[in-house]
Amino acid sequence: MKKNQLDTPSLVLDIDILDENLRKMRDLTVSAGKKLRPHIKTHKCTKLAVRQLKTGNCAGVCVAKLGEAEALAAAGIDPILITSPVSTPQKIRRLRELARSAPDLAVVIDNLDNARMLDEAMAGIGLDVLIDIDPEMGRTGISYEDVPEFAGALKKFQNLRLRGIQCYAGNLQHIADYGERRRTTLERMRRAAALKNQLGVEIFTGTGTGTSDIDIEIPELTDIQVGSYCVMDSEYTFIGSRDGGENRFFRPALTMLTSVISRNQKGFVTIDAGLKSLYFTPQAPPRVVADGVMRGDYRYEWFGDEHGKLYFPGRKPELGEVFELSLSHCDPTINMHDRMYVIRSGEVIDIWPIDLRGLSQ
Ligand SMILES: Cc1ncc(COP(=O)(O)O)c(C=O)c1O
Repeated sequence: MKKNQLDTPSLVLDIDILDENLRKMRDLTVSAGKKLRPHIKTHKCTKLAVRQLKTGNCAGVCVAKLGEAEALAAAGIDPILITSPVSTPQKIRRLRELARSAPDLAVVIDNLDNARMLDEAMAGIGLDVLIDIDPEMGRTGISYEDVPEFAGALKKFQNLRLRGIQCYAGNLQHIADYGERRRTTLERMRRAAALKNQLGVEIFTGTGTGTSDIDIEIPELTDIQVGSYCVMDSEYTFIGSRDGGENRFFRPALTMLTSVISRNQKGFVTIDAGLKSLYFTPQAPPRVVADGVMRGDYRYEWFGDEHGKLYFPGRKPELGEVFELSLSHCDPTINMHDRMYVIRSGEVIDIWPIDLRGLSQ
């Protein structure tokens, strides 16, 4: 089947662009003497996770949710790092079961009550933990100042093994100005690096796609837990690159096919991709993509749950005409779909289930 015979809206994954992105990030880490720990929360697809691991130089994978870890472990993927604290009693019971079958499982921690609960649950099994450091984002993690005391207190928990630290500055990833992004991330990550040295731990993981090329300069950083780089989205394309201009180092591999379903209005046509299939941020709207390049002359506007407006240059698009759109933000868009169609040279060559979709607990 050809790509343009697919019904819409549907997610299409250009396998050659995906592989190029995977190789570029692998090569970046190899050249800096680091490892990759790809974040699977981006795409929630076991087949894509396996491809990332096969591309090489990985220290394992990351997930945001315990449910994602359970599914990946069942598929034989290991080691898995859960990058948000696991703190409800129900989840801690599940974590205990998972730790039995996945001994290399690790979880981040930022609270001593949580440490107590995990320690009790892991009696006889043991669990690797990383201290989650808050890079002044205020989401999870403990402040830089409190890390040494927290690490000292963790020593009394016999079933927890302190393996390292995590520092993920999500608030810096999309700073548009490259110089400002560079200055702030180096400052935050160097403070975390000093703590790694002070604690004498083995792992320092962190970083997202936006600061990956900068953070790898930090000698103490052991691996980067990047997510979006593999499929990319408009939010990341719109941030400034090292050489100025848009960030085109990683290219949009995953796009959405959408059709014109009404053309009765002046100036725009109505397409079948609204909020229920395409997550939308006005700062980085989806863009029409042609031959892997984002075009600036069409404009997408959100038009409710089921629809979008497409403003066009020149000729008015026909009824049923199919457009390919970049994603505003990849993670929440992918989480709305059951599958991605894998494309090579315009042909559908495979269908990958988004099997971790909806595993939000
Ligand atoms: C803890 C953590 N690490 C890594 C990532 C991956 O970031 P990105 O998709 O920007 O590469 C995220 C994304 O939100 C995250 O929350």
